[in-house]
Amino acid sequence: EVLQSIREVNENSSVHGFIVQLPLDSIHRIDTEKVTNAVAPEKDVDGLTSINAGKLARGDLGDCFIPCTPNGCMELIRQTGWRHVLYDIDISRSCVPKCIDRLAREIGLLSNEVELYGKTKAKVHLEAIDRLRIQPDGKYVVVTGITPTPLGEGKSTTTIGLVQALGAHLNNNVFACVRQPSQGPTFGIKGGAAGGGYSQVIPMEEFNLHLTGDIHAITAANNLVAAAIDARIFHEATQSDKALFNRLVPLSGGHRTFSPVQINRLKKLGIEKSDPSTLTEEEITRFARLDIDPESITWQRVLDTNDRFLRKITIGQSPTEKGYTRTAQFDITVASEIMAVLALTSSLEDMKHRLAKMVVATSRNGEPVTTEDLGVCGALTVLMRDAIKPNLMQTLEGNPVFVHAGPFANIAHGNSSILADKIALKLVGPEGFVVTEAGFGADIGMEKFFNIKCRYSGLRPHVVVLVATVRALKMHGGGPSVTAGMPLPKEYTEENLELVEKGFCNLRKQVENTKHFGVPVVVAVNAFKTDTEAELQLICKLAKEAGAFDAVQCTHWADGGAGAVELGKAVQKAAEAPSNFRFLYDTELPVVDKIRIIAQKIYGADEIELLPEAQHKVHLYTKQGFGNLPICMAKTHLSLSHDAEKKGAPTGFVLPVRDIRASVGAGFLYPLVGTMPTIPGLPTRPCFYDIDLEPETGEVIGLF
Ligand SMILES: *[C@@H]1O[C@H](CO)[C@@H](O)[C@H](O)[C@H]1NC(C)=O
Ligand SMILES: *[C@@H]1O[C@H](CO)[C@@H](O)[C@H](O)[C@H]1NC(C)=O
Repeated sequence: EVLQSIREVNENSSVHGFIVQLPLDSIHRIDTEKVTNAVAPEKDVDGLTSINAGKLARGDLGDCFIPCTPNGCMELIRQTGWRHVLYDIDISRSCVPKCIDRLAREIGLLSNEVELYGKTKAKVHLEAIDRLRIQPDGKYVVVTGITPTPLGEGKSTTTIGLVQALGAHLNNNVFACVRQPSQGPTFGIKGGAAGGGYSQVIPMEEFNLHLTGDIHAITAANNLVAAAIDARIFHEATQSDKALFNRLVPLSGGHRTFSPVQINRLKKLGIEKSDPSTLTEEEITRFARLDIDPESITWQRVLDTNDRFLRKITIGQSPTEKGYTRTAQFDITVASEIMAVLALTSSLEDMKHRLAKMVVATSRNGEPVTTEDLGVCGALTVLMRDAIKPNLMQTLEGNPVFVHAGPFANIAHGNSSILADKIALKLVGPEGFVVTEAGFGADIGMEKFFNIKCRYSGLRPHVVVLVATVRALKMHGGGPSVTAGMPLPKEYTEENLELVEKGFCNLRKQVENTKHFGVPVVVAVNAFKTDTEAELQLICKLAKEAGAFDAVQCTHWADGGAGAVELGKAVQKAAEAPSNFRFLYDTELPVVDKIRIIAQKIYGADEIELLPEAQHKVHLYTKQGFGNLPICMAKTHLSLSHDAEKKGAPTGFVLPVRDIRASVGAGFLYPLVGTMPTIPGLPTRPCFYDIDLEPETGEVIGLF
């Protein structure tokens, strides 16, 4: 009877949909499966037929009925925009990733170029670059943002959303190249960095935690250098030159031989000898004694944890170190120069070279002391030999992603590696797109991306995507500050065109900044549920008036690639537009001039002021031959100026440069503007309170 009446309704063209009320009959058992499956799938509004359930499971959402209760829950979550309802990890887990070897095949990698790390991650060998050498590069797109606010603008999410849109929705070959996040913030304040919502890299726990161990390799390599420095000072302090020499070049089988790294040091000293027995007393002294001035050591130990109590420590307190104590500090691992080297290197050979050139201190007579002088550079290359290979993962919508490197943008240049970008550009081919990111505001991330990363890679970007939000512009316009855990003030949740217009000055300045480099810029306005149409349109209109190639709204956080289709189309068009890329400064200019150009043109400063320590370093580094390196400003990202409190687009200020450091191996000088924490601390209630493991399933919970 039931089946018969279902059939009738199926055939009745005036009925468009119906449900079978369950449970059926508790006394006379009826086969529920059979009954629900008798409903014609196109009328099955409950979504209970095997066909609809199957389509839902496969993600063919356009083509099936989604059961109303879960659909209603999802809609509620979307409408309230209340992230805490759904952690990013829950969304990440709702999708079954493609097997990574299948993805690697799909994008044209050969099996001998791929090294699997389980089912969802693989390392890609650098031979791929050689094989694809003659293949023309794809289009290179860089995502950056307005000056960040505590409200979050969603740059990584935009990178992934754009890739999803360009890929599945607009049918291009695409690649995302993103950095690997530090674990410090994952357990601290910020949470992960895999994107968010429906625009993420999956599996996000793999991405945010150990990945393939690259950061651990950097910790190990960095700390080997630190150990080598202090041990060397200790041994030099307790031995004569002769004894030092005899230990450094030990007798074996009746004679002494230099190791290759020692021959390199001799060459650097201008001693063209290879037989240890022929060195004069004076040469022995110069060779054996590095004579490091402990005050001049710029190499710190590192750890990938937000441990503020390591910001200043005393080392060597055990009696075995015979009173050789010194004040030292820890930095976060991603702040290590080795991370910057990894991001900027172009081959294994080049990495080896850069790791050998790193300057760790100055000798008492003013010579730079390098990792090669310490004899440790070969070992560093060995520790880094796997880390140099980019890691392949995927987006929620199955697009390829390289996750590789990720220097601490406060003091380095931020963002993913040159090698990953290069391989990806070859793999997508001339019509395809590679989207990468230069974090923070455009004044920091983008400026360094162009002047440092593009200078070393030789790659030329086609389009800049500049991310903005209504709420962030309101804050730049003078909106109230926010406190974590408190509801947002109404300025951010109700229409306020005046605040948007006032805060637009920050976006205008950042658009101007991209124009210094001659690349077309598309503004992406990440829409939040509480933004009004009038607010969103106002920003787009003002952005186009300010000279943006285009300005569009996007909703990829809630809608995945489908929410960034307009952005994708705008980027496709902009990539065809004429661009004439240029650097902001010539590296041959004096150090002070380079800093001044950045401060005036990009930050809007009137002048710069070099404090005594910075002046001293300008002389020292120029004398040591490092004056022609590009500049990597270490400035707060929270303002265009040096004062994090100054929102909008400040003018009429003098930028104070406190000190200058050199990353000779990575290849830049970094002026310190104000004080910059190099290891973050934990807040009172860190993210780790929410993070746990479900022992029955082994699943991680509570990760953003
Ligand atoms: C089709 O369904 C409508 C609405 O329930 C009903 O009024 C009509 O009698 C049905 N027609 C047939 C042929 O069963
Ligand atoms: C680039 O670096 C900045 C600053 O560390 C960060 O906010 C951003 O997410 C990074 N992006 C990528 C893709 O590496």
